Amino acid sequence: MQDDEILGKAYDARLMRRLLAYLRPYWKAVLVAFVAIIVGALAALAQPYLMKVAIDQHIAVGELAGLDQLALVYVAVLVAAFAAEYVQTWTMQLTGQRIMFDMRMALYGHLQRLDLRYYDRSPVGRLMTRVTSDVDVLNDLFTSGVVTIFGDVFTLFGIMGVMLWMNWRLALVAFAVLPIIALITNWFRRNVRESYRVVRGWIARINAFLQENITGMSTVQLFRREALNFHRFDDIDAKHRDANIESIFYYAVFYPAIEAVSALASALIIWYGGANVMAGTLTLGALAAFLQYSQRFFRPISDMSEKFNVLQSAMASSERIFKLLDEPVAIESPAAPRQPQVDGRGGHIVFDHVWFAYNTAEGAEPEWVLRDVSFEVRPGERVGIVGATGSGKTTLINLLLRFYDVQKGAVRIDGIDVRERGLDDLRRMFSLVLQDVHLFTGTIADNIRLGNERITDEAVRAAASAVHADAFIDRLPLGYGAPVAERGSTLSVGQKQLLSFARALAFDPRILILDEATSSVDTETELLIRDALERLMADRTTIAIAHRLSTIQDMDKILVLHKGVLREMGTHQELLAARGIYYRLFELQYAQRETPSEVRS
Ligand SMILES: Nc1ncnc2c1ncn2[C@@H]1O[C@H](COP(=O)(O)OP(=O)(O)OP(=O)(O)O)[C@@H](O)[C@H]1O
Ligand SMILES: [Mg+2]
Repeated sequence: MQDDEILGKAYDARLMRRLLAYLRPYWKAVLVAFVAIIVGALAALAQPYLMKVAIDQHIAVGELAGLDQLALVYVAVLVAAFAAEYVQTWTMQLTGQRIMFDMRMALYGHLQRLDLRYYDRSPVGRLMTRVTSDVDVLNDLFTSGVVTIFGDVFTLFGIMGVMLWMNWRLALVAFAVLPIIALITNWFRRNVRESYRVVRGWIARINAFLQENITGMSTVQLFRREALNFHRFDDIDAKHRDANIESIFYYAVFYPAIEAVSALASALIIWYGGANVMAGTLTLGALAAFLQYSQRFFRPISDMSEKFNVLQSAMASSERIFKLLDEPVAIESPAAPRQPQVDGRGGHIVFDHVWFAYNTAEGAEPEWVLRDVSFEVRPGERVGIVGATGSGKTTLINLLLRFYDVQKGAVRIDGIDVRERGLDDLRRMFSLVLQDVHLFTGTIADNIRLGNERITDEAVRAAASAVHADAFIDRLPLGYGAPVAERGSTLSVGQKQLLSFARALAFDPRILILDEATSSVDTETELLIRDALERLMADRTTIAIAHRLSTIQDMDKILVLHKGVLREMGTHQELLAARGIYYRLFELQYAQRETPSEVRS
């Protein structure tokens, strides 16, 4: 069963305490709502009683004097009921909106602090649901749930009290239908709860299906899976509809059944009370008031059984929300971060016997992705990393930026373990250019600046022209102000790459990291980029990962990774002379490039 389908208890004291903590800042509004609810309930209780007085003391005995005033009081009570309901609705909805706001901010804030390991194992759709619909369900709890249930209980006991006080025998006759009510309500609650759970499960599946297939629309269309997917969606959608229809059945039975029982209570009151009126032991006004009370009596009962569902789903939602909020933040700034003492710009990197595995589940044997890796990069040095796919190159970078923590050994920058530095300080030192560039909705300039106010428009332009991105930007109708669509889908991969070079340069980092950064541009652009890289790398430490050895031949040092082990290290010439892995890689690529020309000649 998925997380989204689990419905726990309707009431869980531990969860409720945590939820109520969100109400605390708004206790004044809650207090106002409580008072409004009580005033509203009292006004509702007063109406039938005023009617009884009107009938018994005026209409039945032909006493006109005072009836006007009584009518005015009745109107005043109606106005009070209206005002109370207005105040209650307004304050509760307001509070609900504020709590939703607080909760979403708390969730988003926490999501931003969670480390990549968490995102490796959490589907995006699931996390979106927490921040959107789960929070919505909680809003129902605060606006129509907790507080109004209190009002319902108050009304219910109030009516019972007044009925018993007016005529306890007649009251007991009316209450005779209560066991039937209990049975119906119980049946309804059990079934609706189950169908609600099923509906939720199908909604989660619809969302997952749509998310996957809308983002993959080009693949769907290319492989002509439209008919197949349509069929699959038809299946899920139909199950969702049927689950809803089933719950409609329970509602359709429940409300008329409650109506019928309420009518039965009225019949009992008329039958027993009518006889009493004729016998003179009950006034006509009291009978009229009783009929009204008994009708008002059943509304809170049916309301409450609905709210029970709200309560239950809110508990389940809050359980999931709190689970996310309680997710420990594995990678945090230390309490007392250390600042390195460096002269000059710094950027001295040391990997000291680093062991690392992505799987950290307890009891599981770690699958080492990096084994005992040690190397040093001096400030201003340029280092290339090569190795087969999956050999751990990107992983090295992930450790350097502290997206993950090492299991053994240490990564030090300017003499200080990355775990002892503030995350902000640490990451500020780097610019990272990846093969897969992430662009945000906004303009071209926004995407170079990424919200950093210190980067002026001039700096943005200078960075773009330094990496030769200005050529294509100037061709855009709006230039630097041109909008970038979500994920940059309106730009080519090479253009995105150029933008990310400009971004890296504009941030003027101490350490520049390139991960397969030049692999998606044409030869001409690559030449331009090589020129740009020279400027980018000037005066900073650079680490470049590349599959094409030609791009890193001039580096001060080249590291060769093989299955997570650092096998060779040296300059291009040294490595060739050693005739090891690097030599073989070079031979292979050299041969590949040479073959076509040999064929031609
Ligand atoms: N987030 C992750 N969770 C679990 N395993 C991972 C994760 N990222 C990478 N791996 C595994 O770690 C190993 C090294 O991956 P890494 O991304 O460092 O390779 P790479 O050398 O950068 O390869 P490529 O040249 O294809 O980019 C691979 O076996 C990969 O399957
Ligand atoms: Mg990689």
